[in-house]
Amino acid sequence: MKRVRKAIFPVGGLGTRFLPATKAMPKEMLPVVDKPLIQYAVEEASAAGIEDFIFVTGRGKSAIEDHFDYSHELQQTLVERNKTKELESIANLLPVPGQVVYLRQQEPLGLGHAVWCARRLVEDEPVAVLLADDLIKSDTPCLKQMVEAYERTGGNIVAVMDVPREHTNRYGVLRPGRDDGRLVEVMGLVEKPKPADAPSTACVIGRYILQPEIFRELDRQETGAGNEIQLTDAMARLIGRQPFHGLRFEGRRFDCGDKAGFIEANIAFALAHPDIGPQAEDILRRFGRELKPAGAAA
Ligand code: UTP
Repeated sequence: MKRVRKAIFPVGGLGTRFLPATKAMPKEMLPVVDKPLIQYAVEEASAAGIEDFIFVTGRGKSAIEDHFDYSHELQQTLVERNKTKELESIANLLPVPGQVVYLRQQEPLGLGHAVWCARRLVEDEPVAVLLADDLIKSDTPCLKQMVEAYERTGGNIVAVMDVPREHTNRYGVLRPGRDDGRLVEVMGLVEKPKPADAPSTACVIGRYILQPEIFRELDRQETGAGNEIQLTDAMARLIGRQPFHGLRFEGRRFDCGDKAGFIEANIAFALAHPDIGPQAEDILRRFGRELKPAGAAA
């Protein structure tokens, strides 16, 4: 079985739910406390043993390239001002030269299309895909949990979370087979079904380990839900031909592509932050006292 060495970070989306913030700034550069979303995803991939980082970008996304690049002037100024901690915070995030590639998805035709754009760089190997706007707070990084599961099962693995049935129309949903509570055999996948039609409430979250055959399926360039080229549809065609599992990961996922989820992530990460945790707790207590009880008249 081939080891998972490569990861794709699709960052070509428009981020319309965050306009006007995302007019000139990529959604993936929005900070949760003091780190941009994309950095959390890259750190997670590193911790899972990823060696090659493939960013599928689009117009207006060059801030991501600058973020993972050496900044001579800034580093020099921090040295001169003796700001050691700040210097470390930017020096430690640099990828090893040659291990990071940026390529353009010229048109945002969907997640499946973004992944397909990386086909010639992945070639004949399994590949991880991480969506930075799904931020996961866990003791063991989510992708590492998935790589450990992959070493036992092989094939394809998606991160899975149970959601309230009324939310199934926002996700790719599993038709589950054998299920031991953590690892679920995937018998089918449906993109954004109506709650009444959803085959379960187990939904796919933005972490995937996929076999290279996914690119043959994406070659068809077929559009699905929302008239986009959907990764879910291509994955669904691998089921039955290769092992396919969902992993209910340990940890808490925040949907940072959505305003409320993004605020929630900031609160959770602020509370756990070594510098500002106690302050964040005080702020929340203060707000709590100011809030009217739920259901009280305005
Ligand atoms: P979203 O569905 O969140 O779309 O994409 P979006 O464009 O980023 O944001 P909204 O809905 O307009 O606010 C999920 C992930 O897939 C990537 C996005 O960058 C995000 O990480 N994506 C989506 C692409 O890379 N290319 C696409 O064509 C579509």
